[in-house]
Amino acid sequence: MKLTYVKVSFLLLLVSLISCSEKRDNATANKGLKDYYKDHFPIGVAVSPRALNTDEAGLIVTEFNSITAENAMKMGPIHPKENEYFWEHADSIVAFAERNKIKIRGHTLCWHNQTPAWLFMDADSNQVTKEILLARLKDHITTVVNRYRGKIYAWDVVNEVISDKKDEFYRDSPWYKICGPEFIAKAFEYAHAADPEALLFYNDYNEINPVKRKKIIQLVEELKAAGVPIHGVGLQAHWSMYEPTRARLDSTLTEFATLGLPLQITELDVSVYPKEHGRRERKPEDDLTDFTQEKEAKQAQAYATYFEVFRKHKASITSVTFWNISDQHSWLDHFPVRNRKDYPLLFDTNLKRKNAYHKVVDF
Ligand code: GLA
Repeated sequence: MKLTYVKVSFLLLLVSLISCSEKRDNATANKGLKDYYKDHFPIGVAVSPRALNTDEAGLIVTEFNSITAENAMKMGPIHPKENEYFWEHADSIVAFAERNKIKIRGHTLCWHNQTPAWLFMDADSNQVTKEILLARLKDHITTVVNRYRGKIYAWDVVNEVISDKKDEFYRDSPWYKICGPEFIAKAFEYAHAADPEALLFYNDYNEINPVKRKKIIQLVEELKAAGVPIHGVGLQAHWSMYEPTRARLDSTLTEFATLGLPLQITELDVSVYPKEHGRRERKPEDDLTDFTQEKEAKQAQAYATYFEVFRKHKASITSVTFWNISDQHSWLDHFPVRNRKDYPLLFDTNLKRKNAYHKVVDF
């Protein structure tokens, strides 16, 4: 058959349309959260060293440009005995991030949970004095921060020292019982001495609660006024698809912004259950764990709202980190109820992008 000029032009047009759309598909497939948000803030994820050797590693590199060790840098895992550090897991996360040009947030230098058994006791199992505890804190922070100096750009220095109880300011932890509030300022000073370039954060949860929020803001104001080297506030953001409302989140961020410090969303997840902050026994309704279409739609809407408000506050927010990678496994499968499946993240149990993902990048 003889091809006419019109037929040839039509064929050429068809070929070029197909190749354009393939290029577009590839571009969309290669584009990750970090690319959609490149004009806003880095998008991070909390990881275990195990994840870096699975399919999740590819997803991390495509989607994220910041990383946090979920557990590997906490006091218990990294400093199991007084004269013994365990670096392997933390080192592998740092090496992975460096290889892939991913920023690293350090988490966390001083916390009341996941502390090593030796920390608060002497050789005779008596509680240590304030002097000894502060000396141990100094040794720990100096050693850990020094090791990753110049590699970790920001540290959660102190985690969760504000009480959830209405009439209590500080959490009544072993740190507080032994040292009073002084350990908080000291932790920041030790970290700053070990790496003067690192950005130092105070990090806490349930920051959307107006009573707790006020206390966190007061604490940070007092630290600033005392000249303590604190450079930002970490808002954990362990939320649910039922809360916060848009208005509550907007006012939370507006109030924290009055501190004049950068804010980072450090541990974002959006549970499909109403939020509970304490562990509890299983109830019959906890067996209803299907991720129904209704749940998926409601969660996607919640994610859309939260990111819309984050974008609105991009002048204050300098990073948004998810707590875990995908619904395959997250800490919320075992909290607040053991073995209750949750679906809090943007990737499903097969690591595929959920509806919530598409809502988050659609702006
Ligand atoms: C807190 C801690 C995190 C993590 C979560 C639960 O938010 O800061 O390190 O332990 O609890 O996984």
